[in-house]
Amino acid sequence: MAFTLTYIKPGDTVVDATCGTGQDTIALAEAVGKTGKVFAFDIQKKALILTESRLHAHGYSNVDFFMKSFESMGEHIPEGSAAAVIFNLGYLPGGDHSLTTTADATLKGLGEALRAVRPGGIVTVVLYSGHAEGATEKEQVLSWSRGLDPGKYHAAYVNFTNQPNDPPEILWITKK
Ligand SMILES: C[S@@+](CC[C@H](N)C(=O)[O-])C[C@H]1O[C@@H](n2cnc3c(N)ncnc32)[C@H](O)[C@@H]1O
Repeated sequence: MAFTLTYIKPGDTVVDATCGTGQDTIALAEAVGKTGKVFAFDIQKKALILTESRLHAHGYSNVDFFMKSFESMGEHIPEGSAAAVIFNLGYLPGGDHSLTTTADATLKGLGEALRAVRPGGIVTVVLYSGHAEGATEKEQVLSWSRGLDPGKYHAAYVNFTNQPNDPPEILWITKK
């Protein structure tokens, strides 16, 4: 998150594609400030309720929620308007593991994110390969990223070399 935050300034529009417990949403709401806007997606009502109560406790009111898949981002976020889009893939911590992101939906969502992000902006993807769908999703997302036009995007992949138990990995895509 710290690296992603360097792409965001007060007044910006940003997207949390998978708000989950709201941990990332809070950091984004703080970064864009009162004059900015966070658009937060999740398919689970439970996640939206958790995130909304967390934001309320911190006094943030600069977040618009969508109980929808991130595949619908294009219906809500104007093209080239977002400084950052974040995908924290997988399932809700402590929640139903069957309600997880899937490779097919994530590839569609990433296409939407590249459309939504502005030149100079960043798409961040946190990948979890420790469960079956996550392993497939990671391979497909990385494969997709290798095919991105190098004239339009930089894509970088970061993983831990010394952490046990399939730690999270990060893909960053910046738009030129
Ligand atoms: C690992 S959690 C996100 C964690 C979150 N960023 C946080 O800070 O707590 C993944 C979330 O993605 C949601 N999700 C799964 N498929 C989705 C989809 N197609 N569109 C949006 N959210 C989805 C799940 O409901 C779950 O809450």
